Amino acid sequence: MLSTGTEKKIDLTPGDDGTPTHVAIIMDGNGRWAKQRRLPRVAGHKKGADAVRECVRACGELGISYLTLYAFSSENWKRSEEEVDDLMGLLRHYLRHEIEALNRNNVRLRCIGGRERLSSDIVELMTHAEERTARNTGLTLILALNYGAQAEIVEAARRLAAKAAAGEVKPEEIDETMFAAHLQTADFPDPDIIIRTSGEKRLSNFLLWQAAYAELIFIDDYWPDFTKETLLKALAEFGLRERRYGARLG
Ligand code: FPP
Repeated sequence: MLSTGTEKKIDLTPGDDGTPTHVAIIMDGNGRWAKQRRLPRVAGHKKGADAVRECVRACGELGISYLTLYAFSSENWKRSEEEVDDLMGLLRHYLRHEIEALNRNNVRLRCIGGRERLSSDIVELMTHAEERTARNTGLTLILALNYGAQAEIVEAARRLAAKAAAGEVKPEEIDETMFAAHLQTADFPDPDIIIRTSGEKRLSNFLLWQAAYAELIFIDDYWPDFTKETLLKALAEFGLRERRYGARLG
């Protein structure tokens, strides 16, 4: 139940069998995984990219409708030039070489985040991948690239302010539904579950608005060690939690 107009009507309820509709993941710990093995950080990111493949496949198999992965935050530019280049190289490789496999598996790819700072060839690959997979009806894989939630919220506020200044909306008409429809995630339901690996317990500027009712699940494993088993354990924990959306039950 989605709409792409100014109204955002989203069914928040996970599937009847308890499977979440939307899983979002903060993939953390690539560097520590590599350090533990006395390997360069890039080795952790490469193994992390393998874990991305496994996770996408597992979500497809489990009938999850949306998977959002925090692949590169707007703060990640502060890393060394070498590491940023390595991460961009992996993203480039993923967008270039995985698209046909995603397409065969009926996966629809969407990207969120600011495109202005990304190199033009990566933006072209993103756009091509989105167009190539647009008609797929299986898992929607949302890659957050150069993404920061505060910037996303500010941008939505700016767009609404411009509409108000132009007389297209009245300030008093602006409510949560209209606001959400101006976020980059307007086409997707909010995540039911946000998983963060590596033992850190923070949201780090990821989906701050959309996280309002998400269950937060923190896993000690580093991201490169993430497997279908890890996902199943997180989903089992999700299944045990009672979601109330602020209401009293019983
Ligand atoms: C955090 O590990 C992870 C990232 C910076 C982003 C995740 C990137 C990948 C999995 C690589 C490729 C992605 C795709 C979509 C192909 P970290 O370096 O912050 O780990 P640390 O905290 O242990 O240093």
